[in-house]
Amino acid sequence: MWFVPRELVFSLSILVLLLSTPCSSSFVKTEAKIKSAVFLSPKFELGPGSVSNRYYYDIDFPRGHVALKSFDAEVVDEAGNPIPLHETYLHHWAVAKYHQRKLVTLTENDSHRMLQNSDHVLLRNSGICQGTVIPQYFGLGSETRGTATDIPDPFGIEIGNPAEVPEGFEEKWLVNVHAIDTRGAEDKLGCTECKCELYNVTVDAHGKSIRPDYKGGLSCCYDSTQCKLKEGFEGPKRSLYLKYTVKWVDWDDFIVPVKIYIIDVTDNMKLSDNSEEVNSDHDCKVEYQVESCSTDHKEGNGCVHVKRTSVRQQTGGYVIYGVAHQHSGGIGSTLYGQDGRVICSSTPSYGNGNEAGNEAGYIVGMSTCYPKPGSVKIINGETLTLESFYNNTKEHTGVMGLFYLLVAEQLPYQHFRHSTRSSFFVE
Ligand SMILES: *[C@@H]1O[C@H](CO)[C@@H](O)[C@H](O)[C@H]1NC(C)=O
Ligand SMILES: *[C@@H]1O[C@H](CO)[C@@H](O)[C@H](O)[C@H]1NC(C)=O
Ligand SMILES: *[C@@H]1O[C@H](CO)[C@@H](O)[C@H](O)[C@H]1NC(C)=O
Repeated sequence: MWFVPRELVFSLSILVLLLSTPCSSSFVKTEAKIKSAVFLSPKFELGPGSVSNRYYYDIDFPRGHVALKSFDAEVVDEAGNPIPLHETYLHHWAVAKYHQRKLVTLTENDSHRMLQNSDHVLLRNSGICQGTVIPQYFGLGSETRGTATDIPDPFGIEIGNPAEVPEGFEEKWLVNVHAIDTRGAEDKLGCTECKCELYNVTVDAHGKSIRPDYKGGLSCCYDSTQCKLKEGFEGPKRSLYLKYTVKWVDWDDFIVPVKIYIIDVTDNMKLSDNSEEVNSDHDCKVEYQVESCSTDHKEGNGCVHVKRTSVRQQTGGYVIYGVAHQHSGGIGSTLYGQDGRVICSSTPSYGNGNEAGNEAGYIVGMSTCYPKPGSVKIINGETLTLESFYNNTKEHTGVMGLFYLLVAEQLPYQHFRHSTRSSFFVE
């Protein structure tokens, strides 16, 4: 599974460029050492219309004290062929970190809730939802093939720091993969939007009755549910994997760590001026419903649904990377600072073909923000406003509006003080 990083070739040309600028050695150091590996998740089996939503524990992952530089993923079959979204819709994948007591194991079928006991501690990202909601370090959905995840030098996500692992525990990683096989489906979009009427379920994954006004979402398309097929359709079951490619560098003091924040547009935490907020005050519902616009709006072509929330960012810093996550029907998302400035705007691109990575009607990529480090700053305690836009010519159920941010609390100022590039990093 290991191979010579392509970046090595690339970094040689950077080396030549950087040798002409003084004090740039940290750049070269970081670039030259990028490692890369391709892994497969455990196998999951899907027949036409079926759903797999599983948590795989102790997955293959870079080990040691390293800085993650990118994480890309896609669904492939046993021969390694990429599977298009109109056959297997990748609702989402999410990768999270946990500490596990040594000599204890978790099997792939243990429930997500297992992580909340004395042998396992789920380690959240830096915020800002509550408990076990949206804890991931990385996560995307149908857009995974076309969305850049690279973290620019000299930044990285620090993992595997032995000083942060409690005595008697080990750092482990899990991946949650939620995939829906829509081969032969009567209504492919409906299956991907988890419309309850197509799934013939009356209770959710935990056996709780589904409210009559709940039209669609994760409560109706949990593991082993079945979406409605065209009369008489039959197709083979097949074995699939999440294939993921991770890039990283060994940790060193020249790497500047970034924190991960994910803002959820359904978070309706009440902002108050004097309260000390903690994560438990957040109320992230993850999914929401987009009602269809009224007929007169349709004629006026004004069918845009906006959902908006404001949250406070306790600890600020410099935005290094930003990207939104939306479902089909999404037309973009923007994160604003307290003064109304745009922190990042991210828009989906839709495919227009048949092949994997370009499937017509599906979101196949999200645009990303890579502000020049130092140019976009969030101050401590700043109120951020997130807006998520959907085209509501048609109703959409179970949609999402997340915004993923990588924030550096410091800039690599000291490394560049004598360099011609220093102006990039000074406020
Ligand atoms: C997990 O569950 C699936 C189906 O429910 C079963 O086929 C598989 O053998 C189980 N795996 C383990 C490790 O228990
Ligand atoms: C829906 O579920 C019920 C009970 O689980 C079953 O009897 C019925 O045949 C199912 N209907 C369809 C269309 O699959
Ligand atoms: C919304 O979708 C409809 C139908 O697919 C399309 O005609 C319309 O232009 C879209 N509107 C926007 C704002 O994208």
